[in-house]
Amino acid sequence: MLPIPRLIERKRDGLALEAAEWRALIEAYVAGEVPDYQMSALAMAVVWRGLEPSELAALTESMLESGASLDFGRWKTPRVDKHSIGGVGDKTSLLLAPMVACCGVAVPMISGRGLGHTGGTLDKLEAIPGFNVRLSLDQAVEQVKQLGLVMLGQTPEICPADRKLYALRDVTGTVESIPLISASIMSKKLAEGLTGLVLDIKTGSGAFITDPAQSLVLARTMIGIGEAHGCRSVALLTAMDRPLGQACGNALEVIESLDGLKGEGPADLMEVTYALAVEMLLVAGVEQERPAARARLEETVKSGAALQLFSKMIAAQGGDPHVVDDYARLPRAPVIVDYKASREGVIVEIPPRKIGHAIIALGGGRSRTDDVIDPSVGLLIPAKPGDRVRRGDVLAVIHARSAADAAKAREALEEAIVLGKLATPRPLISERVTAAGVEAWS
Ligand code: URA
Repeated sequence: MLPIPRLIERKRDGLALEAAEWRALIEAYVAGEVPDYQMSALAMAVVWRGLEPSELAALTESMLESGASLDFGRWKTPRVDKHSIGGVGDKTSLLLAPMVACCGVAVPMISGRGLGHTGGTLDKLEAIPGFNVRLSLDQAVEQVKQLGLVMLGQTPEICPADRKLYALRDVTGTVESIPLISASIMSKKLAEGLTGLVLDIKTGSGAFITDPAQSLVLARTMIGIGEAHGCRSVALLTAMDRPLGQACGNALEVIESLDGLKGEGPADLMEVTYALAVEMLLVAGVEQERPAARARLEETVKSGAALQLFSKMIAAQGGDPHVVDDYARLPRAPVIVDYKASREGVIVEIPPRKIGHAIIALGGGRSRTDDVIDPSVGLLIPAKPGDRVRRGDVLAVIHARSAADAAKAREALEEAIVLGKLATPRPLISERVTAAGVEAWS
């Protein structure tokens, strides 16, 4: 029998557990032999005391080995994913997956749903009529080999230890721990059978971790785990003190992604998308220099190849591929109204948390895990912090199920979009982090 109370006491007192103890503990937890009350006490001890590098490695490995992985056998094609720490209006995955796959890099992307105030890739994809994100691991591998990309949800076979532990952490105040977050995310990413990983670490008021110094620690911790598993890893720190792009809400974000794949996306969205996609080509080793990688990616958009591949992926996963040319096939909200500036001024801020909560109130996100979301609703926000606006300028367009919902969204926007004299938004991309260290982005 594992001496669980002794392990908890040692962690509580700041001592490290042996790798073999972590392995035995995770195995026993998955087997139902460690009660949740003991595991949550241990998780809380980790929140306060952290983990030594050897403990972090053992915990990540044990969670990875608790389940199955995407098995590509001897397939030689480089496989790279991008993982974002969660944002509002962040639809970069939908754009960069087909762009990168068109450059000979496979993208096996296992994504999540909206969490808290942030949106999720799976919810966006499910706005496309018929799109199926519930593939088996074998189906996912097959599709990656045939098309070069797949976008699916986490299956019960992947990292069951994390599934159980994350659900426990969610209700015991133990999510906010850099080693626990890193082990949780990286065990799932490593289960994708990747050769490279690009992390998009959101920073600013709308990020889960709001302190930029802590964002850097998180980036370095996750990169350390990736590199230790032979998965070349790099992170960009990107701004989440305002929504990314203009569209916030699932069907609206699909439309904006399709516009982006046609070369018509908003500048900020395209800049972050290209920066992350360039890093994907570099970690894959198919390009060595940033300008060449960028030019190759731009060509996938200009030629229409990325859009065509996205449409093929939609068809392969049971969705309606004609949405790419006919947006009327996507869900559309019945009430669409402008929100206009009530006076002249400079937009000081558009806080992503308030925007995310307004979308949840419209029905486009969840406040409970079993809530059913309405993909048609959301907000289009062309305004950005720093813009000077005049009275009557359209700051946002509300897409709602009813006039009453639209009125509530208007109130939320009145509170969220602050007009004043001066704005100091964060740089869109501030740092690049690799195993070698941190560079300022230029
Ligand atoms: N997302 C995860 O998958 N795990 C965490 O611990 C936090 C966010």
